[in-house]
Amino acid sequence: MIKFILNDQLVETSVLPTTVLLDFIRKEKKLTATKEGCREGDCGACTVLVGEVAGNRVKYKSVNSCLMPISDANAKHIVTVEGVNNSVLTPIQEAMVDEGGTQCGFCTPGFIVSMTGYFLNHDKFEIDKAVDSIGGNICRCTGYAGIKRALEKANGAFSGNGSQAKTHLEKLITNKFVPQYFLDIPKRLKQIPAIPTKAKSKVVISGGTDLYVQKWEELVRSNADFISADAKLKGIAKTKNRIRIGGAVTIEEIKNSNLLQKIFPHWNEYFNLFGSMPIRNRATVGGNIVNASPIADTVNILLALDAVVHLRNGKKNREVALKNFYKGYKTLNKKPDEIIEAVSFKVPPRNFFFNFEKISKRTFLDIASVNSSIYLELAKRRISVIRISAGGVAPIPLYLAETCKFLKSKSVNTETVLTAASIAQTEISPISDARGSAEYKRLLLRQLIYAHFVKLFPEQIELPIPNTNERN
Ligand SMILES: Cc1cc2nc3c(=O)[nH]c(=O)nc-3n(C[C@H](O)[C@H](O)[C@H](O)COP(=O)(O)OP(=O)(O)OC[C@H]3O[C@@H](n4cnc5c(N)ncnc54)[C@H](O)[C@@H]3O)c2cc1C
Ligand code: FES
Ligand code: FES
Repeated sequence: MIKFILNDQLVETSVLPTTVLLDFIRKEKKLTATKEGCREGDCGACTVLVGEVAGNRVKYKSVNSCLMPISDANAKHIVTVEGVNNSVLTPIQEAMVDEGGTQCGFCTPGFIVSMTGYFLNHDKFEIDKAVDSIGGNICRCTGYAGIKRALEKANGAFSGNGSQAKTHLEKLITNKFVPQYFLDIPKRLKQIPAIPTKAKSKVVISGGTDLYVQKWEELVRSNADFISADAKLKGIAKTKNRIRIGGAVTIEEIKNSNLLQKIFPHWNEYFNLFGSMPIRNRATVGGNIVNASPIADTVNILLALDAVVHLRNGKKNREVALKNFYKGYKTLNKKPDEIIEAVSFKVPPRNFFFNFEKISKRTFLDIASVNSSIYLELAKRRISVIRISAGGVAPIPLYLAETCKFLKSKSVNTETVLTAASIAQTEISPISDARGSAEYKRLLLRQLIYAHFVKLFPEQIELPIPNTNERN
């Protein structure tokens, strides 16, 4: 039995655990305000909030219910738009009406849910973060200006009453952002037992953001294990000289990690380029690695950090360097019953250089045409450690071994960078597809290698970098 709270109702169900939450909400529970649009995590019409106990409160995340197995709803609070108001419009809903934030209305429930999630999680309003929270919600009618104004107007309503409220949640309830029943949710959730995870079946589902897009019909009929809540696969920790990230840690958790943000000053910006917030709230690092897409962003970054994959099969453990993990297109150095327990990399010394670049057809909410990361250390003004990765230019996420071999012990200057970029061309084998022609991808990788050095060493690189073809 899967048990959870759907809005204010306790639900106990024995539907197949692989059932997509969206289908359960709409077809079994007839809560049809949550819409079905793309079923691929792209439109946000199906957005719901998933609340999980964190101490004495519940932390809410927006997710795409079209990609979430119902099994992962166990012991959680699922909030659809029907659950945010009792009989009157909330200030967010009112603001959307007043500011012209809704027209045909198809996207509106998803927006309302994401916005409510923002207010539930933030007691201080920042428009940039509020806009980020609706990043995965697409509207074909309004042009977004009205929606942004609605966020600001709703904040005005929130800043008004409730100064006597003891908690942020009480203040939201006083201002009618969410109903009274939210207060009892932590207590009610704590009474629901967890479902033990096994990871013994043929199919392992973590966030489901790749699997449900690729083969949901096959998946819903399969006997699967759900590992996204497995405590052994969670957590980001620093040991003496390594950082260890659990296999089921989500991309949003990686993005927001204080530990990682302290080491990498632009960390947050890199992961802002990964999907949308609802996708990042579900997508995991283990899934990104095993899905083995040549353009996987986290893999690209981890390759340059010389990460090691920690595999587990029952009590047997082994480690593989990430750069040796991919043997061919979607062929892995991994046995079928091994799971990724964690991934780890050495804590960089004080003076290191790191950069990640991603080019896609749209800057945000898009997968890469080509991506690349660089890690570099200098000793006596020469390159002592160098690692560069390249995605979208080979059947696997690529580590540019020959380029790195050339760069080792060189000093950083325009000539060195030009030669490195042309050696990189000999290591890649891009193909033409929807994300660009092979020639275009070659050009992109060259530019990304230039971009790494221009960003990291602006004073040592002559700008503009001459075109290598012109020089030859
Ligand atoms: C709208 C959208 C946008 C996206 N944007 C991006 C993007 O910008 N950049 C990007 O890189 N990716 C993107 N993705 C792809 C996807 O979100 C990522 O690859 C994600 O990290 C997959 O993780 P998951 O937990 O959802 O994997 P799942 O779908 O659960 O699993 C994927 C595969 O990995 C296996 N698996 C998962 N975890 C483990 C584990 N711990 N051990 C062993 N096997 C495991 C599963 O069995 C399956 O074969 C996007 C996807 C969508 C739908
Ligand atoms: S239906 Fe489009 S994101 Fe779920
Ligand atoms: S109001 Fe029509 S899609 Fe947003």
